[in-house]
Amino acid sequence: MPEIDKLFDNNRDWAEQQRSEDPDFFSRLLKLQAPEYLWIGCSDSRVPANQIIGLAPGEVFVHRNVANLVVHTDLNALSVIQYAVHALRVKHILVVGHYGCGGVAAALRNNRLGLIDNWLRNVQDVRDRHEDLLAAIPEEKGRIDRLCELNVMQQVVNVCQTTVLREAWDSGQKVQVHGWCYGLSDGIIRDLNVSSTCREEALEHFRAAAARGCSQE
Ligand code: CO
Repeated sequence: MPEIDKLFDNNRDWAEQQRSEDPDFFSRLLKLQAPEYLWIGCSDSRVPANQIIGLAPGEVFVHRNVANLVVHTDLNALSVIQYAVHALRVKHILVVGHYGCGGVAAALRNNRLGLIDNWLRNVQDVRDRHEDLLAAIPEEKGRIDRLCELNVMQQVVNVCQTTVLREAWDSGQKVQVHGWCYGLSDGIIRDLNVSSTCREEALEHFRAAAARGCSQE
Protein backbone atom coordinates (compact mmCIF):
# COMPACT_ATOMS: atom_id res chain seq x y z
CA MET A 1 0.00 0.00 0.00
CA PRO A 2 2.03 2.98 -1.25
CA GLU A 3 -0.19 5.52 0.50
CA ILE A 4 0.80 4.00 3.82
CA ASP A 5 4.49 3.73 2.86
CA LYS A 6 4.42 7.45 2.17
CA LEU A 7 3.74 8.09 5.85
CA PHE A 8 6.93 6.27 6.88
CA ASP A 9 8.86 8.31 4.34
CA ASN A 10 7.30 11.50 5.69
CA ASN A 11 8.17 10.44 9.22
CA ARG A 12 11.83 9.76 8.43
CA ASP A 13 12.09 13.12 6.66
CA TRP A 14 10.49 14.89 9.60
CA ALA A 15 12.73 13.21 12.20
CA GLU A 16 15.77 14.05 10.12
CA GLN A 17 14.71 17.67 9.78
CA GLN A 18 14.11 18.00 13.52
CA ARG A 19 17.56 16.56 14.25
CA SER A 20 19.27 18.85 11.77
CA GLU A 21 17.57 21.95 13.21
CA ASP A 22 18.05 20.92 16.84
CA PRO A 23 20.36 17.96 17.56
CA ASP A 24 19.09 17.63 21.16
CA PHE A 25 15.40 17.74 20.20
CA PHE A 26 14.53 14.08 20.81
CA SER A 27 16.84 13.48 23.76
CA ARG A 28 15.36 16.51 25.50
CA LEU A 29 11.75 15.42 24.95
CA LEU A 30 12.61 11.88 26.01
CA LYS A 31 13.46 13.12 29.50
CA LEU A 32 10.44 15.32 30.10
CA GLN A 33 7.21 16.70 28.76
CA ALA A 34 6.25 19.96 30.43
CA PRO A 35 3.46 21.51 28.38
CA GLU A 36 1.78 24.64 29.72
CA TYR A 37 -1.38 24.04 27.72
CA LEU A 38 -4.11 21.45 27.44
CA TRP A 39 -6.01 21.67 24.15
CA ILE A 40 -9.51 20.18 24.02
CA GLY A 41 -10.62 20.35 20.40
CA CYS A 42 -12.59 18.75 17.60
CA SER A 43 -11.30 15.65 15.79
CA ASP A 44 -11.76 17.50 12.48
CA SER A 45 -8.62 16.97 10.37
CA ARG A 46 -8.55 20.66 9.48
CA VAL A 47 -7.99 21.74 13.09
CA PRO A 48 -4.56 20.38 14.16
CA ALA A 49 -3.70 21.76 17.59
CA ASN A 50 0.08 22.24 17.42
CA GLN A 51 0.16 23.81 13.97
CA ILE A 52 -2.62 26.31 14.59
CA ILE A 53 -1.01 27.77 17.69
CA GLY A 54 2.55 27.30 16.47
CA LEU A 55 3.75 24.97 19.21
CA ALA A 56 6.35 22.23 18.93
CA PRO A 57 6.02 18.65 20.20
CA GLY A 58 6.12 18.74 24.01
CA GLU A 59 4.39 22.10 24.29
CA VAL A 60 0.68 21.21 24.22
CA PHE A 61 -1.19 18.24 25.70
CA VAL A 62 -4.07 17.34 23.41
CA HIS A 63 -7.50 15.76 23.69
CA ARG A 64 -9.79 15.68 20.66
CA ASN A 65 -13.21 14.24 19.98
CA VAL A 66 -16.11 14.99 17.66
CA ALA A 67 -17.45 18.46 18.47
CA ASN A 68 -14.93 19.12 21.29
CA LEU A 69 -17.15 17.90 24.10
CA VAL A 70 -16.43 17.51 27.80
CA VAL A 71 -19.09 15.15 29.11
CA HIS A 72 -19.14 14.49 32.84
CA THR A 73 -19.28 10.72 32.40
CA ASP A 74 -16.53 10.57 29.76
CA LEU A 75 -13.64 8.87 31.57
CA ASN A 76 -11.38 9.50 28.61
CA ALA A 77 -11.73 13.29 28.69
CA LEU A 78 -11.76 13.40 32.49
CA SER A 79 -8.58 11.33 32.71
CA VAL A 80 -6.85 13.64 30.25
CA ILE A 81 -7.92 16.68 32.26
CA GLN A 82 -6.81 15.07 35.51
CA TYR A 83 -3.40 14.13 34.16
CA ALA A 84 -2.91 17.54 32.59
CA VAL A 85 -3.88 19.43 35.74
CA HIS A 86 -2.49 17.20 38.50
CA ALA A 87 0.59 15.69 36.92
CA LEU A 88 1.63 18.11 34.18
CA ARG A 89 0.28 21.15 36.00
CA VAL A 90 -0.74 22.97 32.84
CA LYS A 91 -1.47 26.66 33.27
CA HIS A 92 -4.14 26.96 30.60
CA ILE A 93 -6.91 24.71 29.30
CA LEU A 94 -8.03 25.70 25.81
CA VAL A 95 -11.46 24.50 24.72
CA VAL A 96 -11.35 25.07 20.98
CA GLY A 97 -14.33 24.66 18.68
CA HIS A 98 -14.42 25.64 15.04
CA TYR A 99 -16.92 27.38 12.82
CA GLY A 100 -18.68 25.09 10.36
CA CYS A 101 -18.21 22.05 12.64
CA GLY A 102 -19.87 19.01 11.01
CA GLY A 103 -20.81 17.50 14.36
CA VAL A 104 -22.47 20.71 15.50
CA ALA A 105 -24.28 21.06 12.14
CA ALA A 106 -25.56 17.47 12.35
CA ALA A 107 -26.81 18.12 15.88
CA LEU A 108 -28.55 21.32 14.85
CA ARG A 109 -30.26 19.62 11.89
CA ASN A 110 -31.23 16.44 13.76
CA ASN A 111 -29.34 14.37 11.19
CA ARG A 112 -29.54 10.61 11.76
CA LEU A 113 -26.00 9.28 11.44
CA GLY A 114 -26.09 6.23 13.72
CA LEU A 115 -24.16 5.69 16.93
CA ILE A 116 -22.73 9.21 16.89
CA ASP A 117 -26.23 10.65 17.36
CA ASN A 118 -25.95 9.67 21.01
CA TRP A 119 -22.71 11.60 21.37
CA LEU A 120 -24.09 14.64 19.54
CA ARG A 121 -27.11 14.59 21.84
CA ASN A 122 -24.88 16.64 24.14
CA VAL A 123 -24.71 19.39 21.52
CA GLN A 124 -28.46 19.18 21.09
CA ASP A 125 -28.84 19.87 24.80
CA VAL A 126 -26.89 23.10 24.21
CA ARG A 127 -29.06 23.86 21.17
CA ASP A 128 -32.28 23.29 23.10
CA ARG A 129 -31.09 25.47 25.97
CA HIS A 130 -30.63 28.38 23.56
CA GLU A 131 -33.53 27.69 21.24
CA ASP A 132 -34.83 31.28 21.18
CA LEU A 133 -31.42 32.79 20.53
CA LEU A 134 -30.73 30.40 17.64
CA ALA A 135 -34.21 30.80 16.16
CA ALA A 136 -33.60 34.55 15.86
CA ILE A 137 -30.70 33.98 13.41
CA PRO A 138 -32.08 33.89 9.85
CA GLU A 139 -29.38 31.93 7.97
CA GLU A 140 -28.55 28.33 8.83
CA LYS A 141 -24.81 29.04 8.55
CA GLY A 142 -25.22 31.69 11.22
CA ARG A 143 -27.12 29.29 13.47
CA ILE A 144 -24.43 26.62 13.07
CA ASP A 145 -21.64 29.08 13.86
CA ARG A 146 -23.47 30.45 16.87
CA LEU A 147 -24.11 26.94 18.14
CA CYS A 148 -20.38 26.22 17.66
CA GLU A 149 -19.67 29.14 19.99
CA LEU A 150 -22.38 28.25 22.52
CA ASN A 151 -21.13 24.67 22.55
CA VAL A 152 -17.59 25.82 23.36
CA MET A 153 -18.89 28.06 26.15
CA GLN A 154 -20.87 25.15 27.61
CA GLN A 155 -17.80 22.92 27.51
CA VAL A 156 -15.78 25.59 29.31
CA VAL A 157 -18.40 25.50 32.08
CA ASN A 158 -18.26 21.70 32.06
CA VAL A 159 -14.46 21.74 32.47
CA CYS A 160 -14.80 24.23 35.32
CA GLN A 161 -17.35 21.99 37.04
CA THR A 162 -15.20 18.87 37.02
CA THR A 163 -13.96 17.66 40.39
CA VAL A 164 -10.44 17.95 38.99
CA LEU A 165 -10.64 21.70 38.42
CA ARG A 166 -12.59 22.38 41.58
CA GLU A 167 -10.04 20.55 43.69
CA ALA A 168 -7.14 22.22 41.88
CA TRP A 169 -8.62 25.69 42.51
CA ASP A 170 -9.48 24.82 46.13
CA SER A 171 -5.84 23.93 46.70
CA GLY A 172 -4.69 27.24 45.21
CA GLN A 173 -3.40 25.91 41.89
CA LYS A 174 -3.38 28.50 39.14
CA VAL A 175 -5.05 27.18 36.02
CA GLN A 176 -7.22 29.14 33.62
CA VAL A 177 -9.87 27.72 31.26
CA HIS A 178 -10.47 29.44 27.92
CA GLY A 179 -13.09 29.17 25.16
CA TRP A 180 -11.98 29.74 21.55
CA CYS A 181 -13.48 29.22 18.13
CA TYR A 182 -11.30 28.62 15.05
CA GLY A 183 -12.21 29.86 11.58
CA LEU A 184 -11.65 27.27 8.86
CA SER A 185 -11.99 30.01 6.24
CA ASP A 186 -9.13 32.20 7.48
CA GLY A 187 -7.17 30.13 10.01
CA ILE A 188 -7.82 32.67 12.76
CA ILE A 189 -8.85 31.84 16.34
CA ARG A 190 -11.54 33.98 17.99
CA ASP A 191 -11.44 34.35 21.76
CA LEU A 192 -15.00 33.94 23.07
CA ASN A 193 -14.06 35.92 26.19
CA VAL A 194 -15.14 33.33 28.70
CA SER A 195 -11.72 32.75 30.30
CA SER A 196 -12.26 31.59 33.86
CA THR A 197 -10.28 30.82 36.95
CA CYS A 198 -13.18 29.44 39.00
CA ARG A 199 -16.55 27.80 38.49
CA GLU A 200 -18.59 30.88 39.39
CA GLU A 201 -16.67 33.00 36.91
CA ALA A 202 -17.29 30.44 34.17
CA LEU A 203 -21.03 30.47 34.78
CA GLU A 204 -21.09 34.27 34.89
CA HIS A 205 -19.14 34.59 31.62
CA PHE A 206 -21.32 31.98 30.01
CA ARG A 207 -24.55 33.79 30.84
CA ALA A 208 -23.19 37.11 29.59
CA ALA A 209 -21.62 35.68 26.44
CA ALA A 210 -24.61 33.53 25.56
CA ALA A 211 -26.88 36.57 25.77
CA ARG A 212 -24.70 38.59 23.37
CA GLY A 213 -25.88 39.01 19.78
CA CYS A 214 -24.74 37.27 16.65
CA SER A 215 -21.81 35.05 15.82
CA GLN A 216 -18.36 36.63 15.66
CA GLU A 217 -17.63 35.30 12.17
CO1 CO B 1 -15.79 19.78 14.22
